[in-house]
Amino acid sequence: MRTARKTELNNWNQEFKNINHKNRKYLIKTYGCQMNVHDSERIAFLLEDIGYESTENQNEADIILYNTCMIRENAEVKVYGHLGQLKPLKKERPDLIIGLCGCMMQLNDIRNTIKKKHSHVDLIFGTNNINELPDMIYKHLRDNQFIESIEQNMKIVEDAKEVIHGEAARAYINIMYGCENFCTYCVVPYVRGKETSREPIEILKEVQYLADQGFTEIMLLGQNVNSYGQSLTNPITFTDLLKQIEKVEGIKRIRFMTSHPKDCPQELIDWIAASKKLSTHIHLPVQSGSNKILKKMNRKYTREYYLDLVRRMKEKIPNLSLSTDIIVGFPGETEEDFQDTLKLVDEVGYDQGFMFIYSERPGTVAQKMPEKISRDIQLNRFQLLLDHMYDSFKKKNEAYIGKTVEILVESVSKNNPDRLSGRTDTFKLVHFLGEKNLIGKYVQIKILSANSFSLFGELVERLE
Ligand code: 5AD
Ligand code: SF4
Repeated sequence: MRTARKTELNNWNQEFKNINHKNRKYLIKTYGCQMNVHDSERIAFLLEDIGYESTENQNEADIILYNTCMIRENAEVKVYGHLGQLKPLKKERPDLIIGLCGCMMQLNDIRNTIKKKHSHVDLIFGTNNINELPDMIYKHLRDNQFIESIEQNMKIVEDAKEVIHGEAARAYINIMYGCENFCTYCVVPYVRGKETSREPIEILKEVQYLADQGFTEIMLLGQNVNSYGQSLTNPITFTDLLKQIEKVEGIKRIRFMTSHPKDCPQELIDWIAASKKLSTHIHLPVQSGSNKILKKMNRKYTREYYLDLVRRMKEKIPNLSLSTDIIVGFPGETEEDFQDTLKLVDEVGYDQGFMFIYSERPGTVAQKMPEKISRDIQLNRFQLLLDHMYDSFKKKNEAYIGKTVEILVESVSKNNPDRLSGRTDTFKLVHFLGEKNLIGKYVQIKILSANSFSLFGELVERLE
């Protein structure tokens, strides 16, 4: 919605452009997960809507925003480090606007520390206040003072047109916000608030809008997409939402993240197997292979239940690709518990995964648990887990050698500018030699080699 304030900000930026022959610029640094990346896309849209242009160079930025993460301690440490480095820049250019948003800002203690120790910060806003950003900039400029806006729970006021974004032909859509699972190690429920699902009609409108804009692949995002729709006035299951999205013309592939194993009904598995558009990649965080640790983590499933779920998925879904998250060194984890995790990893055979060393988070139940594991043991177990996981990824990837796969070309490869990269339906990263005009297109690639993280191949055919 265009408010009088947005128009005024736009005029102010336009005036700057007329005099200086360049736009005012913004830089957003994003820490953490895909939800944050998506929030940053929304922030970028709002800033561009009021006349700012994107830059990667902080020396030419007029507004610098850090979208913070606090899932593990090292993410938080990084934010403080980078923030400290902005102090001299702000001293040199007092007009520079410095803002902080994202998960860290949801906690009172952190905001107080920032206000006390980092007075060069001009704006603080929460994960549920993104839409207020233009208003906050306006007030900051008008009154020349620090502005703070924090809401604990999401009040959904999204307009599909305010979230246009995406990479190549893939766009991300939040279908729900927050989490109420309270895994004992996790800070997300404290910072992202109550689980709130968006209305299916709003999601479908957004999918249609994205399809009209030329996006062919969508990724549905939520902390626990499997419990989507339960809290709506007219409840609907995640599977039913997927079935409705399937009907949107122009969308070729549908992905979703993250699934909680405890909420994975058979009807969802059956639909993944039957659907023409759903990716056969499932991100199914297991966290640990030990029943004792799973209980202490409050994951609400057992090792046996998880393995049976995987068995049912493998049975039903041809071409299934599984990824996971695993934490090592959780309080009380014995050598036997850790061996249970390694055994589970070997038994499942993961295609991809994210491995973490347990990190103590403020306010969580696990923070108060005794039997903390020493750093040495944590590092040792982490390395062993990596070895097992990388072996598993390699085996899975090598099985693709000689096959021809369809990929959506996403970008120039990060490590080699002559190569392009894209992903298969199963979310495998594929590199090949090709012309940049293939970005955003679907192509057939013959796989020639593979390592633990990627497939390498040659172009066979371009598809429309
Ligand atoms: N320490 C380590 N890893 C964590 N995760 C969440 N909280 C913590 C923590 N305190 C991991 C979990 C989750 C992923 C997003 O991050 O594996 O699935
Ligand atoms: Fe955190 Fe558990 Fe919620 Fe995932 S499901 S966000 S790990 S509390």
